[in-house]
Amino acid sequence: MDNLQPQSGWKIDDGTFWLPKQSSTIAPEIDFGWDVAMYLAIVLFILVIVPMVLFVMRYRRKHADEIGAPTGHNTTIEIVWSVIPLAVVMGCFLVGFKGFMHASVAPANSYEIAVTAKKWAWVFTYPNGATTDELHVPANRPVKLVMSSQDVLHSFYVPEFRVKQDVVPGTYTTAWFEATEPKEYSLLCAEYCGTAHSAMLAKVVAHEQKEFDAWLEKAGRAGQDLAPDAYGKELFTKSGCNACHSVVPGQRLVGPSLGGIFGKNEKLHGGGEVPVDENYLRESILNPNAKVVDTFGPSSAMPPYKGQLKDNQVDALIAYIKTLK
Ligand code: CUA
Repeated sequence: MDNLQPQSGWKIDDGTFWLPKQSSTIAPEIDFGWDVAMYLAIVLFILVIVPMVLFVMRYRRKHADEIGAPTGHNTTIEIVWSVIPLAVVMGCFLVGFKGFMHASVAPANSYEIAVTAKKWAWVFTYPNGATTDELHVPANRPVKLVMSSQDVLHSFYVPEFRVKQDVVPGTYTTAWFEATEPKEYSLLCAEYCGTAHSAMLAKVVAHEQKEFDAWLEKAGRAGQDLAPDAYGKELFTKSGCNACHSVVPGQRLVGPSLGGIFGKNEKLHGGGEVPVDENYLRESILNPNAKVVDTFGPSSAMPPYKGQLKDNQVDALIAYIKTLK
């Protein structure tokens, strides 16, 4: 599926040779916890394996009748090898717990954005009602995400921020970050969620506060200064339609191609035909299971968009589909 390749411009900046760049205020703390666990494991590995190899060579059985000296209980050794690991484990716990608490509780002055995940797109809703498919945030300001899923488990993951949080149907989860640089970052879904999971990517765009305010104001007016088919074209990617529908006639993705279908008749699953007109398109957007196309049945993989799109947005999408030849 050609359209499931990462979008152009999709990248994660390098930091060290094994971790991405640290681009949020919390990233150094998360990496510190990672380093503690990593280097401790390397040291312990050497402490165990090197003596083991030496002992195997030095104390190996050299003659068939050789019998080793009997060993007994040694209280000092028992205490030493219980207390030292306990202290190490408690130390790791403290480092981890401090970072976990810091990452879990968003600062009180955070800017709040609602996140909706669905198969297979992200939708971001801002305080002024604007919705987008890219996450726009002010840089150098804590941003709190209140997230929920419309269907299955997804996971919000921005490697450069060191933020990863499950997005769950029927409940809200939160995450927060403060981007340290106004630039573009990459957002991934980190929970396997079906066919187009690997294409469930989005950009995170961090702006200077002034630039963000201007962007938000413009985003709040989206569609008002566009012709319906142009607005529909914009919505087609913004609402994630393009993840599953090609506009190339006949090209089958998760769903049927929308290229050249307007005015034709479609065979339905379970028999019968329907003319592809405005009413059929509207019904299929709002309630995809009402009339499923023959080879895509018995039920549609598409989530219903009823309550997700406003009437003028449905109109715009239909206007756009009519232009697809
Ligand atoms: Cu959503 Cu994987």
